[in-house]
Amino acid sequence: GDVGAGEQIFNANCAACHAGGQNVIMPEKTLEKDALEQYLAGGRNEKAIITQVTNGKNAMPAFGGRLSDEDIANVASYVIASSEAGWD
Ligand code: HEM
Repeated sequence: GDVGAGEQIFNANCAACHAGGQNVIMPEKTLEKDALEQYLAGGRNEKAIITQVTNGKNAMPAFGGRLSDEDIANVASYVIASSEAGWD
């Protein structure tokens, strides 16, 4: 996916809860590399992020139908790239 386009999707739709790759609702479930490996269903990969963003999980809303499949794929690429880079 397009990481640059995904950054814009992230800032508009995800940053309210995940600014800087953190999690204001469930503090341990961050978007950092280690947390994605530990908590994300299916492991730290784009497909697993696409699934969670599309369907939601617990207090995280579903974005399927609100964001296009392309936007969701791009934001997943941005989250993976940022987790690699340490969200700096
Ligand atoms: C968890 C991505 C929007 C609240 C996660 C996780 C990812 C993710 C990858 C798994 C993290 C982990 O388990 O360590 C995104 C993306 C978003 C988005 C890409 C935008 C498209 C939001 C919003 C909220 C939110 C707006 C708050 C209203 C949560 C919560 C969890 C979570 C509470 C933990 C869910 C659980 O396991 O119980 N998010 N998120 N997210 N997110 Fe989001």
